[in-house]
Amino acid sequence: MKKALISGVTGQDGSFLAELLLAKGYEVHGIVRRASTFNTGRLDGIYADPHESGIRLSLHYGDVTDASCLRHILEKVQPDEIYNLAAQSHVRVSFDQAEYTADVVATGTLRLLEAYRDHVRVLGRAVRFYQAGSSEMFGAANPPQNESTAFYPRSPYAVSKVAAHWYCVNFREAYNLFICNGILFNHESERRGETFVTRKITRALSRIKLGLQSKLYLGNLASYRDWGYAGDYVEAMWLMLQQDAPNDYVVATGETHSVREFLDQAAACVDLDWAKIVEIDPRYLRPTEVDVLLGDATKAHSRLGWAPRIGFQQLVTLMMNNDFELARQEKTLREAGFTLPLGGGGRG
Ligand code: NAP
Ligand code: GDD
Repeated sequence: MKKALISGVTGQDGSFLAELLLAKGYEVHGIVRRASTFNTGRLDGIYADPHESGIRLSLHYGDVTDASCLRHILEKVQPDEIYNLAAQSHVRVSFDQAEYTADVVATGTLRLLEAYRDHVRVLGRAVRFYQAGSSEMFGAANPPQNESTAFYPRSPYAVSKVAAHWYCVNFREAYNLFICNGILFNHESERRGETFVTRKITRALSRIKLGLQSKLYLGNLASYRDWGYAGDYVEAMWLMLQQDAPNDYVVATGETHSVREFLDQAAACVDLDWAKIVEIDPRYLRPTEVDVLLGDATKAHSRLGWAPRIGFQQLVTLMMNNDFELARQEKTLREAGFTLPLGGGGRG
């Protein structure tokens, strides 16, 4: 049975990847940050009591800012594949917490790479490593972007991802390690964090439709993103590590849409005129914006045999259906006299 170690297992992608690997028969180990509240909600569907027998998902407390804990976890788990998904992944927040973002996203990757390199050297094990790179690294580069496009990062987050990318390339070349950089364009789902624009929109429009909220405050509506479905994208991560040789791949749908177009599609699902409810709040603007992301995933298509299954319209509909149902449940509970600790107002 193959063993995989996932940093960032509690995130959107981590939860989809853990499900995929369990379905493929892997033993899956995830690194979880200690928090004062539960942060494993996305794993509820696959988590089982560790006291039961035959459990194939194990969680380990750890943090990519703590090098010694990463070494201990590697020693204990002895994985065949490592997926480094841990990140402070919010671009706007990275302008407010630049140093912290660099510590987690850039130096955190370096810490895990160093632990991985020593593990392979000391134990002589063949271990493969996936790095969660981002289309944000292309930033201001002209679209369409592919593996040959020069990076032009436009945020502390993107600069940190570029550093992590080049650490991976350097470790691959210097120490002959099996390391792949996935350069993934935006991918969303019903599990997307609530402060990213797609989920912020689908949650708010659903709640507005049911009278639970009156306004939606957003930033720049003119930017374009190549939006795909997270469930499709984790398959590409796995495929990269199953090839004969390590390489870097762009993963994208090849279609781009503006935030405005996302609003149009989402509002149409619940028959709302968004122009009457959306207001622009400058706090959500970024000091430097990425205007257009549009990926060319020809290499992933031809070498990995990967293609997205879910298109833009289906993605918006799936997210709206999920969030409308959540809003309906919230309304029912409120009407029964319960208040929910939803929070989140003014963020994102
Ligand atoms: P996400 O939902 O924000 O998940 C990030 C994960 O990293 C969470 O599990 C988080 O833990 C964990 N984490 C944060 N800081 C950590 C630390 N110091 N030590 C250990 N774990 C830490 O992000 P995602 O959308 O799943 O994305 C996964 C990865 O792909 C990230 O590296 C992201 O930058 C990258 N990426 C995402 C996209 C996209 O469109 N989704 C596109 C390209 C690249 P908590 O749950 O405790 O916060
Ligand atoms: N978050 C947010 N909140 N974004 C807004 C808002 C708002 O209220 N209003 C407009 N936007 C615009 C942003 O300015 C950006 O142009 C676009 O919506 C998408 O923003 P996000 O959903 O926050 O995603 P992102 O593209 O900045 O970053 C995501 O994708 C990257 C891959 O390209 C994240 O998942 C990153 O971690 C990932 O690397």
